Amino acid sequence: MDQQTKKELFLRLEKKAFALISKEEQLDNVYQGIVELLDNNIPYYNWTGFYMIENGELVLGHYLGAHTDHTHIQIGQGICGQAADRKETFIVDDVTKETNYLACSFETASEIVVPILKGDDVLGEIDIDSHEPSAFDSLDQHLLESICAKLAERL
Ligand code: SME
Repeated sequence: MDQQTKKELFLRLEKKAFALISKEEQLDNVYQGIVELLDNNIPYYNWTGFYMIENGELVLGHYLGAHTDHTHIQIGQGICGQAADRKETFIVDDVTKETNYLACSFETASEIVVPILKGDDVLGEIDIDSHEPSAFDSLDQHLLESICAKLAERL
């Protein structure tokens, strides 16, 4: 996908995600809707899901993609736990080079994790895996951070 096509697609997806967040009454439908919106429309998003903080750990919520054994992740553990710990987006271009990594599927080549921040608190995060190496760039980061910020306003 060229950058211009990607920019236009991402603008449309951002609008749809914002509409879901502000209009959909059930929070569960918001999470599910966002997961479907992203995973179904962005070809290189091969596993798309939410982990939410419950009792001080990350707990798997709505997702689309392969089954994962990592339903509970400690802060600091894996890419998900590190993003929550640092309270910032974490992009890994090649997961085989990341030592603090929890493998979900052997097909995963790269990953992005974006925390949902409310003030200084991490409420959860969006985690995306791709079968393509170096799949994620600043446009992905911008789209996902924007969705997380909007979502945080509702939480
Ligand atoms: N790879 C993640 C674990 C979650 S699965 O990818 C769904 C990590 O290292 O934290």
